[in-house]
Amino acid sequence: MKKLPLLFFTLFILSSTFAQNPVYKDKNAPIEERIDDLISRMTLEEKVMQTNQWTYGKNSNPNNIEDRMREVNPMIGSLLYRATFPQARNQIQKKAIEDSRLGIPIIFGFDVIHGYRTVFPTPLAQSCSWNTALVKESCRISAKEAWLAGCDWTFSPMIDVARNPRWGRVVEGYGEDPYLNSVFCVAAVEGYQGKDLSEKYTIAACLKHYVGYSMSEGGKDYHYTDVSDQTLWETFLPPFEAGVKAGVATLMSGFNDLTGIPASANHYTLTEILKEKWGHDGFVISDWASIRNLTNQGYAKDRKEAGLKAFMAGVEMDMMDNIYVENLPQLIKEGKVPMERIDDAVRRILRIKYRLGLFEQPYVDELTEEERFLLPEYLEVAEQLASESMVLLKNDNQTLPITSNNKSIAFIGPLLSDSVNMMGSWEGMGKAKDVYTIIEGVKAEFGDNATLNFAAGCEFDGSDTTSFAEARKAALASDVVVLLMGEKKGWSGENSSRSSISLPAIQEQLIAEMDKLGKPFVLVLSSGRPLELIRINSLPDAILEMWQPGTMAGPALAGILSGKYNPSGKLTITFPQTVGQIPMHYNARPTAVKGLGYFQDVPKEPMYAFGHGLSYSSFKYGEVKLSTEKISKDEKLTVEIEVTNNSEVDGSETVLWFISDPFASITRPIKELKYFEKKSLKAGEKSIYTFEIDPMRDLIYPNSKGDKILEAGDFYLMVNDQKVKFELVD
Ligand code: NOJ
Repeated sequence: MKKLPLLFFTLFILSSTFAQNPVYKDKNAPIEERIDDLISRMTLEEKVMQTNQWTYGKNSNPNNIEDRMREVNPMIGSLLYRATFPQARNQIQKKAIEDSRLGIPIIFGFDVIHGYRTVFPTPLAQSCSWNTALVKESCRISAKEAWLAGCDWTFSPMIDVARNPRWGRVVEGYGEDPYLNSVFCVAAVEGYQGKDLSEKYTIAACLKHYVGYSMSEGGKDYHYTDVSDQTLWETFLPPFEAGVKAGVATLMSGFNDLTGIPASANHYTLTEILKEKWGHDGFVISDWASIRNLTNQGYAKDRKEAGLKAFMAGVEMDMMDNIYVENLPQLIKEGKVPMERIDDAVRRILRIKYRLGLFEQPYVDELTEEERFLLPEYLEVAEQLASESMVLLKNDNQTLPITSNNKSIAFIGPLLSDSVNMMGSWEGMGKAKDVYTIIEGVKAEFGDNATLNFAAGCEFDGSDTTSFAEARKAALASDVVVLLMGEKKGWSGENSSRSSISLPAIQEQLIAEMDKLGKPFVLVLSSGRPLELIRINSLPDAILEMWQPGTMAGPALAGILSGKYNPSGKLTITFPQTVGQIPMHYNARPTAVKGLGYFQDVPKEPMYAFGHGLSYSSFKYGEVKLSTEKISKDEKLTVEIEVTNNSEVDGSETVLWFISDPFASITRPIKELKYFEKKSLKAGEKSIYTFEIDPMRDLIYPNSKGDKILEAGDFYLMVNDQKVKFELVD
């Protein structure tokens, strides 16, 4: 009897130790064991709450966060978090850690698409730099700024291969080539996530929109996408597979109805391919209300069925519409959703929280805005990326760069003092007041040596020509005219499809007016997509596509115009002659009748092809050399080409290596990009560019089930204007 109190005491001590330091909180225990332990302790309600993402609205006043914060359920899995100050995050997180029974941290997500507060050029622009290292660096900076504002997770990169420039969202991706989207996807994932997600300043990435979203009919956003399995495997899935291999934490399921089974309820893509075939062990979040939208698409009769279909197909987290919280408990009771699926979903979400180190380090540092945003080294990267993204489309008579022989320069157009549209759509937490405008940039670059004449000329659209006179006056008073034209940021992006991709008539009219003056004339375009230039292309002497360059727009553009920066961008998306030529992408399949079948009223070639982009240097390509002309599947073939900077100006040249497979069991595109390399070449310098062809990587192609096929036969290597044959033998 005497021993009983001692026994109780020992048991009490043991159980309280266990409660204080359960396995799920033990940072030295393996993650999977911690998850097992945590799941074993969770109630159904706690589990279901993990599958929910709630939106925490914009609140720019740190003193007011209390009220809104009180509404946040401490058990919530995630918040779409739109505050910019770390105190808000930390206070909400504190609620989760201290007020919820198990203290599971919240994951805070936000759309950090091309920068957080420092805005980099749009992703489409970035891809035209062909500089993956720089893009990775921009993502690292974005992650750091975002982390210091309280974010753990970005809904980026978007890797929907562009197929239609009328679709407003081509601005968010990396152009029309699957390989390019794959390599930029990997760069972005590595930039955001770093080597170890649990370290400070790294955030989880999210590949979107899984999958096929960019094929929306006619380019109309949110519309039906008819994607054959062959196209799915060879065009749309490869960038996602590359991102999964690179270790991406999450994916977002698309809005699109994918050939009858919407992407947010598609078991084949979400579970069979992503989880079973590729082994992704993170989680999938729906797009904004894309579960509820299943009812609009006619795939679910009500919210409950929508939740059932999305959850069982493989969407673990519900963005915004609360359907899982409302319906999963009942669906379990009815036996429609097995408990194992709930546990699997929760396990995937917790796994990412553990990998992010949120259980150990739930809070972020609280620094001042000056300490965390727009640091000089960030702006340097932003300026370099912006300048490398710009594409010199045309440069007759070496009109650019504008040399000091020009004593007066006119800068005309609605973009001159613009700071809002320069950021492009999805500008994160970028602020117009941070943007270095074009007028500021050109004043700093040219102001000491030339007289600068400025005029607005016209608005972005409308029909008011009253400012034309002022533009004419500025132009006539100048040696060279620079006209700045283009799109507003809202003309591309989500739900911003356009039936026409021309500049508005008023802008084309002003371009024609400027041409009449007979002055050397440069047209600078800013847009989120390729534009239809057929009526104006011949008028200016030079055309530069500057895209939407972000915070450092002014200095980057001014540097290109003056020659401080030598243009090195090349198009990653085709500029058609007219909108009627769409779809138009370089990697189409051959036609049945060689050279025929094109529209009769426009040339069959695009206005500016994929890969086009001029430089102030001129590069001479030597002859391609192959290490051998025959290889077997286990051998490698090395191809080399010497490129000489044949000019007096230092520059950078990107060599694009394509392969063509002229006969195959399943027809192949005319040519496909397989590799590229960008190098700086000093004036007069030569360099050898090398590509090692690995048949198992570069000559295989998928069939409609995703099996990889390798067939012996002739192939062609294409580089610049050369085409050489080699053979794959059995
Ligand atoms: C809808 C967009 O389609 C998606 O790209 C974005 O990440 C979410 N909204 C969240 O803002």
